[in-house]
Amino acid sequence: MTLHLVDDHDAATACVTTLVSSAIRATPSLVLGLPTGRTPMGLYRALRTAGLDWSRVRTFNLDEFATLTPDHPGSFRAFMDEHLFRHVNLAPASIGFLRGDAADDAAECARYEVAIAAAGGIDLLLVGLGGNGHIGFNEPGESLRAETHVVPLHESTRRANAERFGGDWRAVPASALTMGMRQVLSARRVVMMATGASKAEAVAAMLDGPLTTRCPASWLQAHPDATFVLDRAAVSARRAG
Ligand code: GLP
Repeated sequence: MTLHLVDDHDAATACVTTLVSSAIRATPSLVLGLPTGRTPMGLYRALRTAGLDWSRVRTFNLDEFATLTPDHPGSFRAFMDEHLFRHVNLAPASIGFLRGDAADDAAECARYEVAIAAAGGIDLLLVGLGGNGHIGFNEPGESLRAETHVVPLHESTRRANAERFGGDWRAVPASALTMGMRQVLSARRVVMMATGASKAEAVAAMLDGPLTTRCPASWLQAHPDATFVLDRAAVSARRAG
């Protein structure tokens, strides 16, 4: 496990921007797993102007809200179009995404697994951290699922995502499609970025707690090539601080 502890959010963004840029330059056909959320917004802004050639890169996003069409303003696909995809020379056919509006969710999840396997698996998976310790939409609970699946969302997660739904958490879909823990743990490299005091408890559980379904991110301790990019506020609840 590699830990990059930096002063603040901007420094974390700069660190992850360098990691991703180097990876794309070293492997132009990189298979890149991507998260949404507030945390990577600055990263995507920086990547847009980093002078990278995206023409051979393939991407797979972690998750999508159930029921939403890709052009729904609250969808993660719309988020990615707005923050990254439409600004770089990524081929539309190279963008892997779960369809929230699929007629058959189980078939859609199975299709995604096949698509990722056909791409040769994920080389570099970027992940963010839910305030409750979730990765993608693998929510804390009694159990976790290995495969891509449909998951009911916790109220706290719907509240955290309310901004793109007019601030009304009840307008946030009650379920989502998400990569499961197998894709997270079988990516060749995982980079976790978490910043701010609101993530401090989850960071402490992720790094110092036992591997538990109560904190899905704790399973990253078992990944052979996991890099954590954290700012000082995010590590403030660690006992070793
Ligand atoms: C969302 C996403 C996650 C993301 C997390 C943190 O619910 N499904 O992939 O990492 O919450 O979001 P933020 O970066 O806005 O704190």
